[in-house]
Amino acid sequence: MTSDEIQLIEIKLLLEGIFQKYGYDFRDYALASIRRRILKRMDGENLKTVSALQDRILHDETCMDRMLLDFSVSVSDFFRDPGFFKQIRDQVIPFLKTYPFVRIWHAGSATGEEVYSLAIMLYEEGLYDRCRIYATDFNQQSLEKAKSGIFPLKKMKAYTKNYIDAGGKLAFSNYYTAQYDNAIFKSFLKEKIVFAQHNLVTDQSFNEFNLILCRNVMIYFGKNLQARTHKVIYNSLSQWGILGLGDKENLTFTPFEDHYETLSQTYKLFRKVK
Ligand SMILES: C[S@@+](CC[C@H](N)C(=O)[O-])C[C@H]1O[C@@H](n2cnc3c(N)ncnc32)[C@H](O)[C@@H]1O
Repeated sequence: MTSDEIQLIEIKLLLEGIFQKYGYDFRDYALASIRRRILKRMDGENLKTVSALQDRILHDETCMDRMLLDFSVSVSDFFRDPGFFKQIRDQVIPFLKTYPFVRIWHAGSATGEEVYSLAIMLYEEGLYDRCRIYATDFNQQSLEKAKSGIFPLKKMKAYTKNYIDAGGKLAFSNYYTAQYDNAIFKSFLKEKIVFAQHNLVTDQSFNEFNLILCRNVMIYFGKNLQARTHKVIYNSLSQWGILGLGDKENLTFTPFEDHYETLSQTYKLFRKVK
């Protein structure tokens, strides 16, 4: 048996141990990415084997906290992929406007940049007051950051460019107040947002939505977990509801592929048709 094969056994045992002790289920996440994160944590803990890491994680909850942070990649940006948001503005919002009340779900919303971006866009299009946005993640720390609405001021230049490229109609700086190193986003943007914990591995559908964005989340999942997530999403979308995925994600070869029509393959927008 090669050392790689032995390490694979250790990784499986570690993930099983984490699931049994802490209830977090990473057993169906994509192996390459989960392995990278485990190796990073071993490095951080100064440990030589995955088994040694397992020992520490099972007996030291603070080590599990650190592992959890490594596992949940919470990178996000305001108007990430501006073309996607432009498409939402031009193609999706006119459709949403046909409803008296609109429900939106950001599944895997991380630290909230994407959620505030959409809130800004809905506000500019005169639809925000008729919306309820659910922003969920399994990572409580990310949710707390998202709720705060405070982001690093130094990133605002890049975000302003994204905002303009996404068809922004005002000045991006209208939406925040600069204070020391922070940009504090205006509280009216939070009025229609509900932040809540939801785990796509274990939790079910909790409402019916006209639009669901689940972007850059399923790239970290293995096939079975992707299929489960697609089931939860399908069950949560209303008829004609729209699903937006990340740049590197797709519906092809998922169990629900035939239930959607493609609105934009470039921007990964799909409509539930049956
Ligand atoms: C890379 S971020 C994507 C953020 C945002 N959607 C975007 O595209 O900018 C991935 C998020 O998925 C969340 N995530 C990972 N596994 C999850 C799970 N099982 N249930 C819910 N969220 C999960 C992570 O905590 C992280 O916040």
